[in-house]
Amino acid sequence: MSDEAVSNGAASNGAVSNGAVSNGAEALAVEGLVAGYGEVIALDGVTVTAAASGITAVLGANGAGKTTLLRAISGMIKPRRGRILLADHDVTGRSPEQIVRAGIAHVPEGQGVIPELTVEENLRIGMMSWRGKRAARGAAMEEEYARFKPLADRRRKLASTLSGGERQMLVIARALLARPRVLLLDEPSLGLAPRVMAQVMDLVVRLSREHGLTIVLVEQNARSALAIADHGVVLNLGRVVASADAATLAADVALRHHYLGF
Ligand SMILES: Nc1ncnc2c1ncn2[C@@H]1O[C@H](COP(=O)(O)OP(=O)(O)O)[C@@H](O)[C@H]1O
Ligand SMILES: [Mg+2]
Repeated sequence: MSDEAVSNGAASNGAVSNGAVSNGAEALAVEGLVAGYGEVIALDGVTVTAAASGITAVLGANGAGKTTLLRAISGMIKPRRGRILLADHDVTGRSPEQIVRAGIAHVPEGQGVIPELTVEENLRIGMMSWRGKRAARGAAMEEEYARFKPLADRRRKLASTLSGGERQMLVIARALLARPRVLLLDEPSLGLAPRVMAQVMDLVVRLSREHGLTIVLVEQNARSALAIADHGVVLNLGRVVASADAATLAADVALRHHYLGF
């Protein structure tokens, strides 16, 4: 990725708008990552690569280290060892703000909207790193409203009035406003009704196929995630126990039985 891409928080030419993606097969590479909390080693030498414009599913049981992996990539926790490369650009140890500017947006688990703010106020948070003109901000916001019609209808309503599915849309829309190349999604289907979950999965596919985003999709629902992913990685107790194309993982009966729960 070029330096221009690293500093373009306000650019109107983000990957979401025009499908432009970084060149090179691997948009994101995590190499030998060790990270944890105090005495707890949550990631013990994890290597994962996410192909540009592809969907990489990160699977594994509760406590496997999936959330910690996304936190480390997005700069929320500092890795003890290893490297994080964004299109060959080393972003290891950078602050969360720098990581967002570099082109990685993180949608944390739990549909984290701010309930006391309106839908529009929540969306504006996604543009905090923008240095662009007001008109550009307005246009970007309208683009997200066009993508997410239910949010457009509720723009002046408090986020607390949204359904679970609408909240998930809102946090994804907010992440997209940062104009990422790489989108990290932490269990976006958790707690949603099956029909709404399917809508979220469809959206993830569209963001990858139509807009060229590189997606890292963390899911406990391995079956749904593998149905849309290109590649999958299975974590267990902080280590990678399998990494293969999604169809191969989905067909592996022993793996499904031991680690994927279907
Ligand atoms: N804030 C924290 N403080 C201490 N330990 C944590 C914290 N968050 C997670 N852990 C531990 O790190 C390990 C990995 O957790 P996590 O990354 O949340 O797994 P997953 O998202 O796969 O369920 C678990 O052993 C968990 O208990
Ligand atoms: Mg988690």
